[in-house]
Formats: sequence, structure tokens, C-alpha cells
Amino acid sequence: MNATGLVVVGSGVAGLYAALTAAVRGLDVVLLTKDALADSNSWYAQGGLSAVGPAGAAAGDSIASHIADTLTAGAQLNDADAVAIMCTSAWGHVQRLIGAGAEFDTDASGTFALGLEAAHAHPRILHAGGDATGKGLASALILACRAQQAAGRLEIREHAFVTELLTEENPYAEAGSDRPATMVTGVRVLGGEGQSDELHAEAVLLATGGAGQLFAATTNPHGATADGAALAYRAGAVLADAEFIQFHPTLVSPGGFMVSEAVRGEGAVLLNERGERFMQAVHPDAELAPRDVVARAIHAVRAQGGTVHLDARAVEARHGAGFLARRFPSITRELKKLGYDLAAEPVPVTPAAHYWMGGILTNDTGASTLPGLFAAGETACTGVHGANRLASNSLLEGLVFAWRTVVNLPSDLAAATALAAAVANSAGMKVMATRPAGAGNFEGSGSDPAETATADMDLAQLQELAQLHLGVERTAEGLRSALDRLACWRVTGNDRASRERANLLTVATVVATAALERENSIGAHYRSDATAAPQPANGHLPRFGRALAAT
Ligand code: SIN
Repeated sequence: MNATGLVVVGSGVAGLYAALTAAVRGLDVVLLTKDALADSNSWYAQGGLSAVGPAGAAAGDSIASHIADTLTAGAQLNDADAVAIMCTSAWGHVQRLIGAGAEFDTDASGTFALGLEAAHAHPRILHAGGDATGKGLASALILACRAQQAAGRLEIREHAFVTELLTEENPYAEAGSDRPATMVTGVRVLGGEGQSDELHAEAVLLATGGAGQLFAATTNPHGATADGAALAYRAGAVLADAEFIQFHPTLVSPGGFMVSEAVRGEGAVLLNERGERFMQAVHPDAELAPRDVVARAIHAVRAQGGTVHLDARAVEARHGAGFLARRFPSITRELKKLGYDLAAEPVPVTPAAHYWMGGILTNDTGASTLPGLFAAGETACTGVHGANRLASNSLLEGLVFAWRTVVNLPSDLAAATALAAAVANSAGMKVMATRPAGAGNFEGSGSDPAETATADMDLAQLQELAQLHLGVERTAEGLRSALDRLACWRVTGNDRASRERANLLTVATVVATAALERENSIGAHYRSDATAAPQPANGHLPRFGRALAAT
């Protein structure tokens, strides 16, 4: 039988780091990824990795300050314990990464060069290759994984697309108990040649990334199709915080290339069509206000027919010719290809879907609500980001919780399913009782397609709908009409592209449902029709995953 201990799905930094950690610890581990190892969202991360440590702290900075900034950006909707774990352990992972071959940029004196990004009280962003941090970290982890593969300690399967989580009856679920009735026992995989295979495992760790391809305008690559969340949801796992989607303020448009917030951290400003700065009137931190605030302000200008440009000319003038090309080599190079000269002219920008704070509800050791199923990185919802992620906390979260997941698995993985069942219960999690209607429009998934699903959906239709109704600004009317449309759509076909579309359709329905239920604005979720005041920063609101799970 095709069986293993741990299956890791996805090759962003969370998946790579989990696979590497498992291999080094001697676990029986297989890493699956739907394209090549280097094809991930992490690869494109520009800004960096936020971490405060003895060799990387600006004057006056502290772990407590990193925690406070993370909670403020998240509108205090974060899981405060998970935030403390992440920020406290950040520096240890920087050291582990360096041990695994990663390099971070240093200044002339040899100390770590620290960038500043929005809503950070201090410069604390480590970066690599100037503005190619994700590529730097992922490349180092790929090399380290390849070394484990060469040593026979890690099996890597590229072009292996997971189409289903295999489940069995959970033997630990006693009659009348609230333990999940099923447990995850492996994955079904569609290979590059179209062959379908089952891989049985004691534990499955989903690290499949985000859902950016739901939107017409996104900073994410083509592979960001919410696969893990959709798989987990269909298997019965709880998704949480689904309404919180972060929009990055500065996607160059036309063109479609993201310009890192670190460029604003160096002093670049935003101009309206009259060439005037407008962010100072919106927020005391102006261009370095929290990302959701900046994205909404740009959206507002554009919605009134205006245009917004990012102007970095003064940065170049202040530091001297060639500074932007040295500090941001990838950005300046990519913009040149699109016909823009960042040092010499303001470039047109628009907000674009960037990061999904929601996902598979996990505890602080990666356990989902389903025994045997774990999640890390963007597909997981650990609660660290709350209603809005702080810049450069995403690579960090992926690393911290992928590592914690693996090191908390017993070395004898045969016992892991029992552990997972216990952990899922100790976190007070239950399978979500109510699923949004229409979310199961997936042929052969075992869940009934909505009776109203009559029209085949193509990706552009879904992306346009999401852009219009699930974007920066939402209303109940728009969300209801989106849900009606979603319920009419179905995806037929068993090829990979069809399944990716089906995954996006499933997650779109969950996002729209959650966004409709959260009637007030908070963090990245903005309801322009909200009748009550915006929810207070310290509102400690229930997270829907937990709230639904408790009913
Ligand atoms: C950026 O570089 O602006 C994005 C970094 C992030 O998403 O944290």
C-alpha cells in the first residue's frame, strides 16, 4: 500500500520548512506540490520577515512592541496567545533559517539591515536580495530539502495535485461525544500525466497558500486557488475568519506587478490625479497607515473617477541616483519591463487582493478540527493576524507554525491520529454545523451540488464577481447578489484547472457568507452599508469559526 507517516502539501516556506524539519527529525515524510518546488506564493514575497532579536533590533524596539503592532493591525481580533508565540519565537527561526543556508541583507557594518513597513513602530523587517525575501528563503529551503531528498530522508513529488482528503470513521469518537466523526487518513493525488493515486498517511499537513485568484486584481500567482481550504472544508473541517481578505494598496496597474510597502517605508508617497498627497488627511501615519486604511483610501479616490500614483522620486533624490535600483532591484527591474521608471516618474497603482487572513481553523500546534489534518501558512487560520495582517508577518507565521506542527507530532506517527483527536478536542473545536448553501458545487465531492446550480462557471466570471462584491468595499445587497450568483454556478470536469475553479467557488461562497454575517466594519472587512459604528479596536469579537463551531 502507498502509505507514509506525514504528507506535507505545498511548497511555500511553510511546506518546505515543515518537510525539512520532519526529515531532519527522522519522520517518514512526503512533500507534494502541484507545480515545481519553486512555484509558490512565498517565492514572490518582497518586503521581508519581521523579527526582533538580539542581533536584529532597532533602538527602542522589543518583542512586546512587535506583539502590540500585530494586535493593533489585527484590530485586536487576533488570538493573543498565538501572537505572543509567533513574535517570541521569531528570532529562533531566523537563526534556524540561517543554519539552513538562508542569507539576510546586512548594512555596511555587517549588522542586519532592517526595513520599515506600515503599522510597525520600528524598523524590524529582515530582507534578502533587497526586495526578493521570499525567493531568498524559499531557495535556501529548497536546497536544504533537496539535500534531505538526496540522503533518502525526504520524498518529493512535484506536479502532484491533491484532489481530495481521504477520510475514515474516527475510532476515537465515542457515541454522544463531540469528537469529529471522521478523521483524515491521506490524500488523493492527480499526477502530471493525469493519473489518480491514493497516498495514505498518519497525518496530513496542508500548506497550500492563499486564495488570491478569486479576484480579478491580485498580487498572487496563478496557483493561489484556495485548494487546501476547499479540501479541508469539504472534508468537514472548520474554516474561520473567512471574511478577512487583505488588499495590498499598490499593485501597479496597468501592468499587474506589486510594489512593496517597503518602498513607502523608505519615503515614497501616494498622489491623486491632481498630484496631491491625500493620505495625510486620512490617517496620522499617512502612507504608512495600516494596509487596509491605505487600500480603502486609494479605492475611494479611484471610485470617484480619480487616479492614484506612487511617487518615489524624492527617495531617489534623498539617497542619490541608483538608490532605488540597489535597494529594490527586482521591483525596479520588473517595472522597467512594464515601461515604468520608479526613480523618475510616479507609477499608477490600485489595491489588489493579497492575503487571506482566514482559512482552516487551527490551534497553536497546527491541528485543525479534524483528527489527522493539520494546516500551516496562509491556508491556516491560527488567529495571529486577526482582522488584518501586519506587514511581513506572513512568512514568519508560516515558518513558526509549520515548525510547531512538526515538532509536536510524536516521532511514532502511528500514534499521531490519537494525538490529533485529543488536540482537536482540547482546543474546544467541533465540526461546523452549518455550511453555506451552494458551497458544495463540486462534482463527485460527495456533497450535493445546490439544486439551483445550472450554469457552468468560468474563472473570469468568478473573479469579476468577487472583485465587485467581495472586494475592498462590501454591502449586504452586493453580498446577497453574489451568493445568489454563486449558487447558480457549477464546475464540471475533473482536470486540474476545473478542480482549482471549483475550489475557488467553494471558498468564494464561504467568504461571502461570512462577510454577510459580519455586519460591521473591522480591519480588512469594510461594510459601507454598516449601520452601527465601526467595531472598536478592542472589541474582542467572536471569530466566526469558533462561534459557528459552538452552535
Ligand atoms: C510588501 O512587501 O509590501 C508585502 C509584504 C507583506 O505582504 O507582508
